[in-house]
Amino acid sequence: MSDQARPERSTSAHPSGDQRFALLDTALRRARYEPHQLIEILHTAQEIFGHLSDDVLVYVAQGLRLPRARVLGVATFYHLFRFEPAGDHTCSVCTGTACFVKGADRIIDALQRAHGVLSGETTEDGRLSLSTARCIGSCGLAPLIVVDGEILGKMDASRALEEIATRLDTADAPATDAAGEDATTRAPGDDATSGTAGEGASAGSSGQQAVAVGATGRTVEER
Ligand code: FES
Repeated sequence: MSDQARPERSTSAHPSGDQRFALLDTALRRARYEPHQLIEILHTAQEIFGHLSDDVLVYVAQGLRLPRARVLGVATFYHLFRFEPAGDHTCSVCTGTACFVKGADRIIDALQRAHGVLSGETTEDGRLSLSTARCIGSCGLAPLIVVDGEILGKMDASRALEEIATRLDTADAPATDAAGEDATTRAPGDDATSGTAGEGASAGSSGQQAVAVGATGRTVEER
């Protein structure tokens, strides 16, 4: 739709007084309020707010002139989008075919039991959010988990538990936010190469491998 047919929206302050909506206004304006930019706008909104609240989803729907149900439907279709604030640390277990046949279910079960949460939940103390994802394109590393935006391959239940325990014992802030942006590479006690999801990585001495998720962690997987 042309600019003439689609007048720019007001950038006046959101009634809540939350200045972050001004940033979302900017993103909408840059997207020219085009409905087909919905996923990009949702990504940006999550980067700004950390998760997609009902208020943000309504705001996006109004900005793009889309039905709220359409926006919610798209947002819930992808694993990447989060609707509750993330914990201090995030752990996502890949449940794609390659990872599943190599024991992803045992990893999930161990993490759920150890931390008293189900996939999709955050621990009561807000320290850990656990989730699952479909194939992120690094099947050679199966089974893998993504911890704070960092892909750790060739995992098993005990290694996953150890990795999470180490993260929770670390006082420093996690390397990434809920959107998985600005990920850094860390090989737990061994060598590793960095790259984006799907680029592969080298094996370390312990058999674990690690690569970094690409900027913004936009490994969109279907739910
Ligand atoms: S199935 Fe897990 S990365 Fe492909």
